[in-house]
Amino acid sequence: MEKLIVHGNAKLSGTVNISGSKNAALPILAATLLTREKCVIRRVPDVSDTNYMLQILQNLGAEVERASGTVTVKAETLNGAEAPYDLVRKMRASICVMGPLLARMKESIVSLPGGCVIGDRPVDLHLRGLEGLGATSKVEGGNMILSSPKGLRGQEIDLRGKHGTTVLGTDNVMMAAVLAKGTTIIEGAACEPEVVDLAQFLNKMGAKIQGAGTSHIEITGVKELGGVEHTVIPDRIEAGTFLIAGALAAGKSGITLRRVEPDHLTAVIEVLKSCGYPVERQGKTLTIGRASRPIGANITAEPYPHFPTDMQAQMCALFATTPGLSVVKDTIFPQRFMHCSEMKRMGADISVDDGTAVIRGVDRLSAAPVMASDLRASAALLLAALTAKGNTEIHRVYHIDRGYENIDDKLIGLGAEIERVQA
Ligand code: EPU
Repeated sequence: MEKLIVHGNAKLSGTVNISGSKNAALPILAATLLTREKCVIRRVPDVSDTNYMLQILQNLGAEVERASGTVTVKAETLNGAEAPYDLVRKMRASICVMGPLLARMKESIVSLPGGCVIGDRPVDLHLRGLEGLGATSKVEGGNMILSSPKGLRGQEIDLRGKHGTTVLGTDNVMMAAVLAKGTTIIEGAACEPEVVDLAQFLNKMGAKIQGAGTSHIEITGVKELGGVEHTVIPDRIEAGTFLIAGALAAGKSGITLRRVEPDHLTAVIEVLKSCGYPVERQGKTLTIGRASRPIGANITAEPYPHFPTDMQAQMCALFATTPGLSVVKDTIFPQRFMHCSEMKRMGADISVDDGTAVIRGVDRLSAAPVMASDLRASAALLLAALTAKGNTEIHRVYHIDRGYENIDDKLIGLGAEIERVQA
């Protein structure tokens, strides 16, 4: 197992290229199962989650090639409809093969993913949606078994849940409905840019989807889909993470992020500006500098277009040393605050209660050995360590490798001192 040693006192400058979006790439890779023809997908980030997804596709019988960010998948024949526990347990997002398998094979057997450290991760909305299209479901031996021997039928489906919309649930229903008979209407659909990217991919394959990016999506089923070439959207969460690195540690000239989609980052940019950080946009480029007198903020993570839950841990790292009081609430995953306990070990003044972190900024954090608990928590610890006093050791960095492409190398390119060593 590897650990990162992060030297504090970082002064960052220069330019960083943002990778393609992990959370857009994963369902798009799953959607390649919907056609026998070849799909070419560009800007697929080389992270362990996309590697797991490719293993699942290969396991199902698809031919997969990967060369510097471009993935080619040809799922001409599939040898089954089962995504086994060994692979699913490594990555929750494997659940998004359920919709495509059901549409193409009239059956899907996907191991129940179980809970995870960011909280309970139920699948009721996925099942509600797919059952709405006519599938039957049962749980047997830890697997969700869905079947629709006579094919799926379009229907009106409400996907709103207790915590709002569901991103992968919307993806699953969309991917199943594209080959269903008749028209499907999804109410309460997730509006995240990753859902829009998937809809665009499916439409290029020949699907008829309208309204992606709003809470009302209409899908007219078609008989078959064809091969396609597609470039994945930039990763807005990776970009947001680097914006916070800049807010924390940029030198006089700031840092510049290239190959981003600033429109996807509006909520994050607004918060950073309200805290006093200069953020400038020029086309697909963003530059952020230090604030002369940074102030805290009160933010709430909610479904898009609001502040993303996948950025709240990184925001906690920024607020840990921002003068005054900040409040971070997560309505989507109220238990997603493990990073706060670790940051407290670095001297942060944070109390967490009922899905809300109250943070009193301290002058400076100090290095400590800390443990990454999930993907975004590990990014938050890495950010916190950049300006801490001393050298911070971050253990269990495999979490960060699940979703950030070469994050240590990218930070080193901006001037940080980080070593990756065997723990
Ligand atoms: N929910 C249900 N029932 C369901 C599904 C979800 O109640 O059947 C609840 C969840 O418990 C949560 C809320 O609905 O409270 C939203 O969960 P959602 O289904 O939208 O999450 P997801 O689709 O499984 C994706 C991202 C997550 C991101 C969430 C929320 C991917 C691969 N994952 O997960 O990303 O946090 O949407 O935006 O797209 C990450 O990248 O670190 C990550 C965890």
